[in-house]
Amino acid sequence: MSIPATEDTETNTVELSRETIARVDISDQLSDVLALPEHLRDALWRVESAIMQGWDTSAGLVVAGMGGSAIGGALARAALGDHASRPIFVTRAYGLPPWTTPDTMVLCASYSGNTEETLACYESAGALGAQRVVVTTGGRLAEMARADGVPVIPLPGGFQPRAAVAYMTVAALEVAALCGAGPRLTSEIDVAASHAEQLVAEWGPDANEGSLAKEIAASLLGSIPVIAGAGLTAPIAYRWKTQINENAKLPAFAHELPELDHNEIIGWEGAESVGRFAAVFLDDSDAHPRVKARMELTEKLIADHATASLHLETRGQTAIERIFSLVLLGDLVSLYLAVLRGVDPGPVEMIERLKSELAQR
Ligand code: PA5
Repeated sequence: MSIPATEDTETNTVELSRETIARVDISDQLSDVLALPEHLRDALWRVESAIMQGWDTSAGLVVAGMGGSAIGGALARAALGDHASRPIFVTRAYGLPPWTTPDTMVLCASYSGNTEETLACYESAGALGAQRVVVTTGGRLAEMARADGVPVIPLPGGFQPRAAVAYMTVAALEVAALCGAGPRLTSEIDVAASHAEQLVAEWGPDANEGSLAKEIAASLLGSIPVIAGAGLTAPIAYRWKTQINENAKLPAFAHELPELDHNEIIGWEGAESVGRFAAVFLDDSDAHPRVKARMELTEKLIADHATASLHLETRGQTAIERIFSLVLLGDLVSLYLAVLRGVDPGPVEMIERLKSELAQR
């Protein structure tokens, strides 16, 4: 990781101890981030308790959801990677892909159960005769599913939707296995939970100020993060972006390799003339060797135009361990960044305002 000296508009004078975090993090988002290992285990239990039979849906799986509820589908697809035996598609929209048939499994994921795009997908799936499963805390989605006899994977209430990332990912993985789109990864999920516990100790609030998550947060302070992933880390890069948006209340952008080498790389030439941008590259031990070479070269070429350039790698053996290592790191970085900025990571007022104004139309 290389962090050039900065002439900050925002500077880090805050120590990231539990006490200083608690002063800013009024609704204690930190505890929900640190509970990721328990969420992984609890999620397995909750899917089992929904007692779903295996449906063999030869047309594959569509995960329908938005924002914090959609990311689980994207991470599950990345975790299955080459082991996916049928198409797995994530839709973040009002409609399902046109190839959805009665032979498609549609998992409707909405933490609140009231997201209009996801409700529309639930209804479309019903109209098309597709197999449906719902993962939610309640709301209109749970009401409709119960009335229709559609299985509901029940989630615990009281979180911000984005804090349920482990639940949403495990639900998508388990539904993928039930419908024949991928292998069952139950024991890998359990192992990933133990691995995440070690990382919580290494990067959490009790670790020293030079620990990785705290150091990254300090290095991103005062800049707009531009995050790059590839393959397995592409949806994680997007997760980092959205967590920085919602927790730290900052613009952030995500793109993926190799595609960004064909466009975004040029944009860096003008970066300093319009603002302060930091580059974050999310690497993986199992990335394609040519993608690894591209990442190194891209980092070198843009380094002079970025306020900081960070190269981070997944940790762990299995795909699930590696995915959750960088998801956890990004969640902590975004929360620490919020605290360094003095903004409460919890509330997402603009999202709520938009939803309520839209409901009046
Ligand atoms: O993080 C958030 O709060 C949002 O991205 C929500 O997840 C999104 O608006 C969808 O809401 P829900 O997760 O309740 O379906």
